[in-house]
Amino acid sequence: MRKIIFDTDIGVDDAFALAYAAQTQHILGITTVFGNVPVSQAVKNAKVFSREIALNAPIFRGCSRPLALPALVNSTTVHGRDGLGDALENPYDDKADNAISFIIDTVKAQPGEVTLVAIGPLTNIACAINQAPEIIPLVKDVVIMGGAFGTRGHAGNVSPHSEFNIWKDPHAADQVLSSALPVVMLPLDVTHEVLISGDEIRYLNFPVLTQISSGYLQYSLTHERFEGMALHDSLTISWLTHPEYFTTVKSPIRVVTDGITRGQTLRQLTQLASRFNPFEHCSKQTLCLDVNASKVKAAFFHSLQK
Ligand code: RIB
Ligand code: CA
Repeated sequence: MRKIIFDTDIGVDDAFALAYAAQTQHILGITTVFGNVPVSQAVKNAKVFSREIALNAPIFRGCSRPLALPALVNSTTVHGRDGLGDALENPYDDKADNAISFIIDTVKAQPGEVTLVAIGPLTNIACAINQAPEIIPLVKDVVIMGGAFGTRGHAGNVSPHSEFNIWKDPHAADQVLSSALPVVMLPLDVTHEVLISGDEIRYLNFPVLTQISSGYLQYSLTHERFEGMALHDSLTISWLTHPEYFTTVKSPIRVVTDGITRGQTLRQLTQLASRFNPFEHCSKQTLCLDVNASKVKAAFFHSLQK
Protein backbone atom coordinates (compact mmCIF):
# COMPACT_ATOMS: atom_id res chain seq x y z
CA MET A 1 0.00 0.00 0.00
CA ARG A 2 1.54 3.29 -1.13
CA LYS A 3 1.06 6.79 0.27
CA ILE A 4 -0.34 8.66 -2.73
CA ILE A 5 -1.45 12.13 -3.75
CA PHE A 6 -4.23 11.58 -6.28
CA ASP A 7 -4.07 14.37 -8.90
CA THR A 8 -7.16 14.34 -11.09
CA ASP A 9 -9.40 16.15 -13.59
CA ILE A 10 -12.14 13.93 -12.25
CA GLY A 11 -14.27 12.56 -15.00
CA VAL A 12 -15.84 9.12 -15.19
CA ASP A 13 -12.74 6.97 -15.55
CA ASP A 14 -10.97 9.09 -12.92
CA ALA A 15 -13.78 8.19 -10.52
CA PHE A 16 -13.31 4.48 -11.25
CA ALA A 17 -9.61 4.97 -10.47
CA LEU A 18 -10.40 6.83 -7.24
CA ALA A 19 -12.68 4.00 -6.08
CA TYR A 20 -9.89 1.52 -6.88
CA ALA A 21 -7.26 3.66 -5.11
CA ALA A 22 -9.48 4.00 -2.04
CA GLN A 23 -9.61 0.19 -1.77
CA THR A 24 -5.88 -0.40 -2.27
CA GLN A 25 -3.77 2.66 -1.39
CA HIS A 26 -3.34 5.24 1.39
CA ILE A 27 -4.68 8.46 -0.16
CA LEU A 28 -3.01 11.45 1.56
CA GLY A 29 -5.04 13.93 -0.48
CA ILE A 30 -6.88 14.59 -3.73
CA THR A 31 -5.58 17.49 -5.85
CA THR A 32 -7.76 18.70 -8.68
CA VAL A 33 -6.80 20.15 -12.05
CA PHE A 34 -8.62 21.36 -15.18
CA GLY A 35 -9.05 18.80 -17.96
CA ASN A 36 -12.21 16.74 -18.43
CA VAL A 37 -13.97 19.59 -16.60
CA PRO A 38 -12.98 23.05 -15.33
CA VAL A 39 -11.08 22.85 -12.04
CA SER A 40 -14.04 24.35 -10.13
CA GLN A 41 -16.19 21.41 -11.28
CA ALA A 42 -13.36 18.98 -10.49
CA VAL A 43 -13.39 20.20 -6.85
CA LYS A 44 -17.15 19.68 -6.66
CA ASN A 45 -16.85 16.23 -8.29
CA ALA A 46 -14.08 15.14 -5.93
CA LYS A 47 -16.27 16.13 -2.98
CA VAL A 48 -19.44 14.41 -4.16
CA PHE A 49 -17.71 11.22 -5.33
CA SER A 50 -15.67 10.99 -2.10
CA ARG A 51 -18.98 11.14 -0.22
CA GLU A 52 -20.40 8.38 -2.45
CA ILE A 53 -17.49 6.03 -1.65
CA ALA A 54 -17.17 7.19 2.00
CA LEU A 55 -13.63 8.41 1.38
CA ASN A 56 -12.35 10.93 3.91
CA ALA A 57 -9.31 12.43 2.17
CA PRO A 58 -8.63 16.20 2.00
CA ILE A 59 -9.43 17.83 -1.35
CA PHE A 60 -7.42 20.67 -2.91
CA ARG A 61 -7.89 23.04 -5.83
CA GLY A 62 -5.16 23.19 -8.49
CA CYS A 63 -4.51 24.84 -11.81
CA SER A 64 -7.36 26.14 -13.95
CA ARG A 65 -5.49 26.43 -17.26
CA PRO A 66 -2.37 25.22 -19.12
CA LEU A 67 1.07 26.70 -18.42
CA ALA A 68 1.52 28.43 -21.76
CA LEU A 69 -1.49 27.80 -24.01
CA PRO A 70 -4.92 29.45 -24.01
CA ALA A 71 -7.52 27.58 -21.98
CA LEU A 72 -9.77 25.51 -24.28
CA VAL A 73 -13.33 24.53 -23.46
CA ASN A 74 -13.94 20.80 -23.98
CA SER A 75 -16.21 20.08 -26.91
CA THR A 76 -17.08 16.42 -26.27
CA THR A 77 -19.34 15.48 -23.41
CA VAL A 78 -18.23 11.86 -23.07
CA HIS A 79 -18.07 12.46 -19.34
CA GLY A 80 -21.36 14.42 -19.30
CA ARG A 81 -21.74 18.16 -18.66
CA ASP A 82 -20.62 17.82 -15.02
CA GLY A 83 -17.91 15.24 -15.71
CA LEU A 84 -19.61 12.43 -13.76
CA GLY A 85 -22.28 11.48 -16.28
CA ASP A 86 -24.76 14.09 -14.91
CA ALA A 87 -25.85 11.30 -12.59
CA LEU A 88 -25.40 12.74 -9.09
CA GLU A 89 -26.97 15.64 -7.23
CA ASN A 90 -23.99 17.77 -6.26
CA PRO A 91 -24.60 20.13 -3.31
CA TYR A 92 -20.93 21.04 -2.81
CA ASP A 93 -19.09 24.30 -3.47
CA ASP A 94 -15.79 24.65 -5.36
CA LYS A 95 -13.82 26.05 -2.43
CA ALA A 96 -10.59 24.26 -1.41
CA ASP A 97 -7.06 25.01 -0.28
CA ASN A 98 -4.20 25.28 -2.76
CA ALA A 99 -3.14 22.02 -4.40
CA ILE A 100 0.41 23.09 -5.28
CA SER A 101 1.19 24.03 -1.67
CA PHE A 102 -0.26 20.71 -0.51
CA ILE A 103 1.94 18.73 -2.92
CA ILE A 104 5.10 20.63 -1.91
CA ASP A 105 4.43 20.55 1.84
CA THR A 106 3.43 16.86 1.87
CA VAL A 107 6.46 15.69 -0.13
CA LYS A 108 8.80 17.75 2.10
CA ALA A 109 7.19 16.35 5.25
CA GLN A 110 7.51 12.73 4.08
CA PRO A 111 10.67 12.60 1.93
CA GLY A 112 11.00 9.49 -0.23
CA GLU A 113 7.56 8.17 0.75
CA VAL A 114 4.98 9.95 -1.42
CA THR A 115 3.85 8.74 -4.85
CA LEU A 116 2.17 11.30 -7.11
CA VAL A 117 -0.59 9.63 -9.14
CA ALA A 118 -1.45 12.06 -11.97
CA ILE A 119 -4.40 11.21 -14.22
CA GLY A 120 -5.15 14.55 -15.85
CA PRO A 121 -3.00 17.27 -17.45
CA LEU A 122 0.36 17.52 -15.63
CA THR A 123 0.00 21.22 -14.84
CA ASN A 124 -0.11 20.85 -11.04
CA ILE A 125 2.99 18.64 -11.02
CA ALA A 126 4.86 21.07 -13.28
CA CYS A 127 3.89 24.04 -11.09
CA ALA A 128 5.02 22.18 -7.95
CA ILE A 129 8.52 21.43 -9.31
CA ASN A 130 8.85 24.92 -10.81
CA GLN A 131 7.90 26.50 -7.48
CA ALA A 132 9.99 24.09 -5.38
CA PRO A 133 12.58 22.22 -7.48
CA GLU A 134 14.05 20.91 -4.23
CA ILE A 135 11.16 18.41 -3.98
CA ILE A 136 12.27 16.52 -7.12
CA PRO A 137 14.67 14.17 -5.25
CA LEU A 138 12.15 13.80 -2.41
CA VAL A 139 9.28 12.35 -4.50
CA LYS A 140 9.17 8.54 -4.36
CA ASP A 141 7.78 8.34 -7.89
CA VAL A 142 5.19 9.78 -10.24
CA VAL A 143 2.70 7.43 -11.94
CA ILE A 144 0.76 9.03 -14.79
CA MET A 145 -1.96 8.06 -17.20
CA GLY A 146 -0.95 9.83 -20.38
CA GLY A 147 0.84 9.73 -23.69
CA ALA A 148 0.82 7.32 -26.64
CA PHE A 149 3.64 5.59 -28.51
CA GLY A 150 1.80 3.71 -31.25
CA THR A 151 1.93 0.10 -30.00
CA ARG A 152 -0.78 -1.82 -31.89
CA GLY A 153 -1.83 1.47 -33.46
CA HIS A 154 -2.60 3.23 -30.16
CA ALA A 155 -1.12 6.60 -31.15
CA GLY A 156 -3.68 9.13 -29.99
CA ASN A 157 -7.27 9.80 -28.96
CA VAL A 158 -7.67 13.58 -29.11
CA SER A 159 -5.72 13.69 -32.39
CA PRO A 160 -4.06 10.97 -34.50
CA HIS A 161 -0.81 11.65 -32.62
CA SER A 162 -1.69 12.78 -29.10
CA GLU A 163 -3.44 11.65 -25.96
CA PHE A 164 -5.83 13.99 -24.13
CA ASN A 165 -3.96 14.62 -20.83
CA ILE A 166 -0.70 15.47 -22.62
CA TRP A 167 -2.44 17.45 -25.39
CA LYS A 168 -4.26 19.64 -22.86
CA ASP A 169 -0.94 20.93 -21.47
CA PRO A 170 2.04 19.80 -23.55
CA HIS A 171 4.43 22.30 -21.93
CA ALA A 172 3.70 20.95 -18.45
CA ALA A 173 4.06 17.38 -19.71
CA ASP A 174 7.39 18.14 -21.39
CA GLN A 175 8.72 19.75 -18.20
CA VAL A 176 7.64 16.85 -15.97
CA LEU A 177 8.67 14.01 -18.31
CA SER A 178 12.08 15.52 -19.13
CA SER A 179 12.81 16.33 -15.47
CA ALA A 180 14.69 14.19 -12.93
CA LEU A 181 11.37 13.04 -11.42
CA PRO A 182 11.11 9.21 -11.69
CA VAL A 183 7.98 8.82 -13.85
CA VAL A 184 6.06 5.68 -14.80
CA MET A 185 3.79 6.22 -17.82
CA LEU A 186 0.57 4.30 -18.50
CA PRO A 187 -0.05 5.46 -22.11
CA LEU A 188 -2.85 4.54 -24.52
CA ASP A 189 -0.62 1.65 -25.64
CA VAL A 190 -1.84 -0.21 -22.53
CA THR A 191 -4.97 1.67 -21.45
CA HIS A 192 -6.69 1.02 -24.78
CA GLU A 193 -6.05 -2.70 -24.24
CA VAL A 194 -8.05 -2.87 -21.00
CA LEU A 195 -11.74 -2.38 -21.84
CA ILE A 196 -14.65 -3.02 -19.51
CA SER A 197 -18.17 -3.69 -20.85
CA GLY A 198 -21.43 -2.31 -19.56
CA ASP A 199 -22.39 -5.79 -18.35
CA GLU A 200 -19.09 -6.12 -16.48
CA ILE A 201 -19.65 -2.73 -14.81
CA ARG A 202 -23.15 -3.77 -13.76
CA TYR A 203 -21.73 -7.12 -12.54
CA LEU A 204 -19.40 -5.15 -10.21
CA ASN A 205 -22.55 -4.31 -8.25
CA PHE A 206 -21.03 -0.92 -7.36
CA PRO A 207 -24.08 1.33 -7.91
CA VAL A 208 -22.40 4.72 -8.20
CA LEU A 209 -20.01 3.40 -10.88
CA THR A 210 -22.99 2.10 -12.87
CA GLN A 211 -24.80 5.41 -12.41
CA ILE A 212 -21.97 7.69 -13.55
CA SER A 213 -20.88 5.52 -16.51
CA SER A 214 -24.20 5.03 -18.33
CA GLY A 215 -23.74 8.13 -20.50
CA TYR A 216 -20.10 7.24 -21.21
CA LEU A 217 -21.19 3.76 -22.32
CA GLN A 218 -23.92 5.18 -24.56
CA TYR A 219 -21.36 7.54 -26.15
CA SER A 220 -19.03 4.62 -26.71
CA LEU A 221 -21.82 2.52 -28.26
CA THR A 222 -22.85 5.38 -30.57
CA HIS A 223 -19.35 6.53 -31.54
CA GLU A 224 -17.28 3.38 -31.21
CA ARG A 225 -19.96 0.68 -31.62
CA PHE A 226 -18.86 -0.88 -28.33
CA GLU A 227 -20.90 -0.63 -25.10
CA GLY A 228 -18.01 -0.27 -22.72
CA MET A 229 -15.09 1.92 -21.76
CA ALA A 230 -11.35 1.89 -21.50
CA LEU A 231 -10.37 1.90 -17.82
CA HIS A 232 -7.57 4.41 -18.63
CA ASP A 233 -6.84 6.08 -15.25
CA SER A 234 -7.36 2.91 -13.17
CA LEU A 235 -4.23 1.44 -14.75
CA THR A 236 -2.12 3.78 -12.61
CA ILE A 237 -3.49 1.91 -9.59
CA SER A 238 -3.05 -1.43 -11.38
CA TRP A 239 0.66 -0.51 -11.74
CA LEU A 240 0.93 0.20 -8.00
CA THR A 241 -0.74 -3.08 -7.06
CA HIS A 242 0.61 -5.38 -9.81
CA PRO A 243 3.57 -3.93 -11.77
CA GLU A 244 4.31 -7.49 -12.89
CA TYR A 245 1.27 -7.34 -15.20
CA PHE A 246 3.05 -4.77 -17.38
CA THR A 247 5.90 -4.93 -19.91
CA THR A 248 8.07 -1.82 -19.71
CA VAL A 249 10.87 -0.06 -21.55
CA LYS A 250 13.10 2.74 -20.31
CA SER A 251 13.57 5.87 -22.41
CA PRO A 252 13.99 9.61 -22.12
CA ILE A 253 10.76 11.34 -23.16
CA ARG A 254 10.00 14.64 -24.86
CA VAL A 255 6.67 16.19 -25.81
CA VAL A 256 5.80 18.16 -28.96
CA THR A 257 4.38 21.48 -27.72
CA ASP A 258 2.92 23.00 -30.89
CA GLY A 259 2.01 22.39 -34.51
CA ILE A 260 -0.03 19.59 -36.03
CA THR A 261 1.34 16.95 -33.65
CA ARG A 262 0.95 19.06 -30.47
CA GLY A 263 0.91 16.68 -27.48
CA GLN A 264 2.76 13.83 -29.18
CA THR A 265 5.03 11.94 -26.75
CA LEU A 266 8.41 10.97 -28.22
CA ARG A 267 10.72 8.23 -26.96
CA GLN A 268 14.32 7.79 -28.09
CA LEU A 269 14.38 5.16 -30.82
CA THR A 270 17.99 5.44 -31.88
CA GLN A 271 21.32 6.02 -30.18
CA LEU A 272 22.57 7.57 -33.43
CA ALA A 273 24.69 10.58 -32.52
CA SER A 274 23.01 13.63 -33.95
CA ARG A 275 23.92 17.29 -33.80
CA PHE A 276 20.60 18.18 -32.23
CA ASN A 277 19.60 15.67 -29.54
CA PRO A 278 16.31 16.70 -27.84
CA PHE A 279 16.76 13.87 -25.34
CA GLU A 280 20.08 15.18 -24.01
CA HIS A 281 19.97 15.71 -20.21
CA CYS A 282 16.57 13.96 -19.95
CA SER A 283 16.14 11.19 -17.36
CA LYS A 284 15.06 7.79 -18.61
CA GLN A 285 11.43 7.19 -17.67
CA THR A 286 9.52 3.90 -17.41
CA LEU A 287 6.96 3.33 -20.17
CA CYS A 288 4.39 0.56 -19.98
CA LEU A 289 3.96 -0.61 -23.58
CA ASP A 290 2.23 -3.95 -23.01
CA VAL A 291 -0.13 -5.37 -20.40
CA ASN A 292 -1.79 -8.60 -19.31
CA ALA A 293 -5.28 -7.14 -19.67
CA SER A 294 -7.16 -10.15 -18.25
CA LYS A 295 -5.05 -10.14 -15.07
CA VAL A 296 -5.43 -6.35 -14.68
CA LYS A 297 -9.23 -6.67 -15.01
CA ALA A 298 -9.35 -9.61 -12.60
CA ALA A 299 -7.44 -7.64 -9.95
CA PHE A 300 -9.68 -4.59 -10.55
CA PHE A 301 -12.84 -6.70 -10.09
CA HIS A 302 -11.39 -8.47 -7.04
CA SER A 303 -10.86 -5.10 -5.32
CA LEU A 304 -14.11 -3.42 -6.31
CA GLN A 305 -16.76 -6.12 -6.58
CA LYS A 306 -19.36 -5.84 -3.86
O1 RIB B 1 -6.90 10.01 -22.60
C1 RIB B 1 -7.54 9.52 -21.44
C2 RIB B 1 -7.39 10.49 -20.33
O2 RIB B 1 -8.07 11.70 -20.67
C3 RIB B 1 -8.04 10.02 -19.02
O3 RIB B 1 -7.32 10.56 -17.94
C4 RIB B 1 -9.41 10.63 -19.07
O4 RIB B 1 -9.93 10.90 -17.77
C5 RIB B 1 -9.13 11.93 -19.76
O5 RIB B 1 -8.70 12.85 -18.77
CA1 CA C 1 -8.39 11.78 -16.16
